Amino acid sequence: MRKIIGLTYDLKTDWVGNPGDPVDANAELDSPATMERIASTLERAGYSIKRIGNARKLLKLITSDELDVDLVFNICEGYHGRNRESEVPLLLEMHDIPFVGSDALTMGISLDKIAAKKCFIADGVSTPRYFCAYNSDNLEKLNKIGFPLIVKTRHEGTSKGLTKGSRVEDYASLKRQIDIITKQYHQPALVEEFIKGSEFTVPVLGNIDPKAMPVVQVSIDGKTNLGDEFFTFDRVIIKESTVKYICPAEISEKLTKEMQDLAVRAYQSIDCRDFGRVDFRVDEKGKPYVLEINPLPSLAEKDVFNIFPYAIGSSYDEVLAKIVNFALERQGILDKKVTGKDRVKQTAKSNLVKVR
Ligand SMILES: Nc1ncnc2c1ncn2[C@@H]1O[C@H](COP(=O)(O)OP(=O)(O)O)[C@@H](O)[C@H]1O
Ligand SMILES: [Mg+2]
Repeated sequence: MRKIIGLTYDLKTDWVGNPGDPVDANAELDSPATMERIASTLERAGYSIKRIGNARKLLKLITSDELDVDLVFNICEGYHGRNRESEVPLLLEMHDIPFVGSDALTMGISLDKIAAKKCFIADGVSTPRYFCAYNSDNLEKLNKIGFPLIVKTRHEGTSKGLTKGSRVEDYASLKRQIDIITKQYHQPALVEEFIKGSEFTVPVLGNIDPKAMPVVQVSIDGKTNLGDEFFTFDRVIIKESTVKYICPAEISEKLTKEMQDLAVRAYQSIDCRDFGRVDFRVDEKGKPYVLEINPLPSLAEKDVFNIFPYAIGSSYDEVLAKIVNFALERQGILDKKVTGKDRVKQTAKSNLVKVR
């Protein structure tokens, strides 16, 4: 019997915004193409797919006893607040329904970047110095770091709230940016020391003995030495073509190992499960800093999970099948090994861009 996997997702096309929402309000939601890609990949791996939709649709099916799946593959980002990514995992935990990926607590900790940083600091995982600003009063007292700083949202992803102006060098700009975050995004601002240098991301897979995958380097406008440049929202979404991924990163073995080790330690620090991705900046002296961890990394076609598999002679299909296997194994429901070997090779190789 084929196992049935239920897919939970929040699609951009289902989003209904409110007047006054920032332009990037629905940035983290997925496109129908990404959801369909996951569905067809899992079908090729031998599963039957049931498209469920968002947390409310899931709840409806659970309460009417019509869910009827063996496992849920969840990519729901939710709409509001720092627990939005925890909603689906919590519903599933309540009803003892097996699912792929991290649990509700891990989702909440990672989305609240400050909560995650506290775990990293406790576990000796290097992360930029920071302070939390609930408003823009008494900044001179609060700022023990100096300048330059970067002002970010406390609990959003996909570079939401990040514009060129987010890197600040004086108190007037710091105040302006904190006001934007607190007033437009309705949350405290995370203010960090700005790490001048280069940028990387490291996927991690597994549970008891998680493994870091090849390091992926980010280039902007063809440059890998980013200096003061960073991933603003319009680069991620509007000017997507200016950002390229290089995998494996063309860096020393020492730095590769250092980031892979930090990535696994960050993953374990907040108890991630099955898969995740850790974002880094490396300063001009070569010291890596963990910016954040994503237990719900993008699985979209042009993103990192479509690129790194080719650096290890694998593919998106194989990696997704592996992630499902980790989830089945962890929950003791793996009675049929799925390898994904017999699926169609993907075309994502074209996303593997080398910059020299
Ligand atoms: N401390 C920092 N120093 C330099 N650049 C940063 C720093 N924090 C974030 N950035 C830039 O902002 C981008 C988004 O920040 P990140 O913390 O990864 O949040 P998210 O990806 O969830 O929006 C990073 O990819 C990086 O380009
Ligand atoms: Mg990030």
